[in-house]
Amino acid sequence: MASDFPLGGACASSRISVAEVARLGPPRTAAERLGVNFPDRLAGAVRSRQYEFIAGRAAAQAALHVAGFGGHALLTASAHRAPQWPGGFVGSIAHSHGQAWAVAAPRQHFDGLGIDLEHCLGQVPAEELAPALMRAEEIASARRSPLGFGVHVTLVFSAKESLYKCLNPLFGKEFGFHDLVAETLETAAGTLGLRLEAPLAPRVEAGRHFEVEYRIERGAVWTAVGLRNG
Ligand SMILES: CC(C)(COP(=O)(O)OP(=O)(O)OC[C@H]1O[C@@H](n2cnc3c(N)ncnc32)[C@H](O)[C@@H]1OP(=O)(O)O)[C@@H](O)C(=O)NCCC(=O)NCCS
Repeated sequence: MASDFPLGGACASSRISVAEVARLGPPRTAAERLGVNFPDRLAGAVRSRQYEFIAGRAAAQAALHVAGFGGHALLTASAHRAPQWPGGFVGSIAHSHGQAWAVAAPRQHFDGLGIDLEHCLGQVPAEELAPALMRAEEIASARRSPLGFGVHVTLVFSAKESLYKCLNPLFGKEFGFHDLVAETLETAAGTLGLRLEAPLAPRVEAGRHFEVEYRIERGAVWTAVGLRNG
């Protein structure tokens, strides 16, 4: 993936394969070797979830290090599952199909970051999922998309999840897929514009437009969005 992705290279990015983590031993051993705090709440989770969590946190530690954080971040989770980034830094974590990805940046550049990774949906699952993820006008656009229907639906899904991860920890407000509307697709630039339909805070009013960057690589859609400060 080009070094200017995501966000023009303004944040540090790290990817780790979950299989690599599993090769380090049982989950608690792997976590210890990678310097990841393994929470008790995951003790009863299936192994794949445990390794996925560890891979995400290890990627986050690596991204934080590249972003200039010098300590060891605990990266505990909020009641809403959002990772708690160390003071002065923001970031985001995603995992899917054996890959974990994390980004981090100093707070002087961004108030919030959100990333997501989804394997491209085929036509049939995309048709089934689309009404839950998109409004009728978005589904009509997806049918005309140069990306093809399945990839376009995957992109809209992933972009909305990225924006949710960026905004939810900042404003503590939950919102659904139909509160965001995909409007502009720029395939040359690799961006999808999303319009927010519900106000989140005085600074984030309804009608606000967000540009989500995307790349399509190895059968997956990777999306990222940043809320720059100021
Ligand atoms: C967070 C969410 C959007 C995506 O999570 P997911 O489908 O499990 O998939 P991903 O692997 O891409 O991301 C999971 C990671 O996101 C991060 N995350 C979870 N909740 C988060 C939140 N509220 N804010 C920011 N990041 C969050 C975590 O790091 C998590 O991994 P971890 O549990 O191993 O730490 C989803 O689970 C969720 O909470 N949905 C409810 C709201 C919603 O769907 N709204 C519609 C979108 S507009």
